[in-house]
Amino acid sequence: MTSLPETHRVLQLISTSQPLQLKTLPVPHTGPGNAIVKVLLASVVSYSGDIYNGKRQYPFPTPFVPGSNAIGRIVAVGPDATTLVPGQLVFLDCTIRARDDPTGAIILSGIIEGFTEGSRKLMHGEWRDSTYAEYIKFPLENCIPLDEERLLGPVNAGGLGYCVEDLIHIAKLLVPYGGLDDVGLKPGETVIVAPATGPFGGAAVRMALAMGAGRVIAMGRNEAVLQELSALSNRISTVQITGNEGTETEALRRFSPIDVFYDISPPMASGSTHFRSAIAALRYGGRISLMGGINGDISLPYASFMHRNLSMKGTWMFSREQSLRLVKLVEEGLLLLGKKNGFSVGGQFGLEEWEQAFEKARDAAAGEVVVIVP
Ligand SMILES: NC(=O)c1ccc[n+]([C@@H]2O[C@H](COP(=O)([O-])OP(=O)(O)OC[C@H]3O[C@@H](n4cnc5c(N)ncnc54)[C@H](OP(=O)(O)O)[C@@H]3O)[C@@H](O)[C@H]2O)c1
Repeated sequence: MTSLPETHRVLQLISTSQPLQLKTLPVPHTGPGNAIVKVLLASVVSYSGDIYNGKRQYPFPTPFVPGSNAIGRIVAVGPDATTLVPGQLVFLDCTIRARDDPTGAIILSGIIEGFTEGSRKLMHGEWRDSTYAEYIKFPLENCIPLDEERLLGPVNAGGLGYCVEDLIHIAKLLVPYGGLDDVGLKPGETVIVAPATGPFGGAAVRMALAMGAGRVIAMGRNEAVLQELSALSNRISTVQITGNEGTETEALRRFSPIDVFYDISPPMASGSTHFRSAIAALRYGGRISLMGGINGDISLPYASFMHRNLSMKGTWMFSREQSLRLVKLVEEGLLLLGKKNGFSVGGQFGLEEWEQAFEKARDAAAGEVVVIVP
């Protein structure tokens, strides 16, 4: 068991108009309901730079320690921990929910304080600091146990032979799992993923395959990345986003009936033609999962929506149950991580190299994940 030092190094955001700063702060103390975790690797999303320079206008308190989902090792647990123990390898799920209002007060640790008085209370107080730090105090329920022997053990001893870096791909896969599971994607179904060429879109393609989709139609603008994706499986087809709604719809309809449309658009794609073409190509009773970062409104073909009994569901992140189920899929070998699934770690950066980490994440190739190693 690692003993806890008095102080540790963290990255701190003082204000969105200043660069992040490396600070030495006291290591947090454990107490009821939490664990102290040594952060091994923390995920960096492609738009991290825009979150912390204020461009995305995500609300958060300052100063605070930014961060995201991470892989860590428990160092100490609060007195009410019943299964988690020091030494255990865990996935740190950044979706923190109020225990007395789990659907009303939600924050993404290190990213956004949410949109209610309750969520703001969580991030301005108890759960202010996140994973771009050597140690973190985290809610017990957000520490998702990982079977280290199975995941990291050698293949000839019944393990899956992963390295710790491979495990961070769980962070990418969990987001689309939340949405695809929420719209009830079933084995054998056909699903459109758009745009499929970004980090979460590419993960959605892989996730849909692991959930048993009969066909995954990867839609995107970048033909080269679409080809890379299609090489992952003969159950993947591609349709290009061309800006011409009619030709896109026609190309999609070759795969009819299409059951699900999964959208993971960034704000820049708010005017993209794929919304309307993908919706037009859905079968009667088709389902739509909205998980993108579109800020404004989008228009919908109202009558066609109604006549075809379509349904649409928004999903922010994923539930604890979904995290536990996804980890089970990984541990059973049904959902592959790392290079076995076309993923790679595109860069590992120390806390002081945060700027390079954000730049690399912005420019990362398809399937590349960037991590901060505190
Ligand atoms: N709901 C949730 O819980 C949740 C969780 C995580 C992320 N998100 C959201 O998911 C979004 C996607 O994240 P990401 O990191 O995967 O990707 P990203 O870096 O934010 O966006 C890149 C993707 O968007 C495409 N794109 C960019 N501009 C476009 C345009 N004008 N028209 C069509 N496609 C366009 C890119 O296509 P090209 O390859 O052609 O450039 C690429 O596929 C984020 O912006 C975030 O807000 C939501």
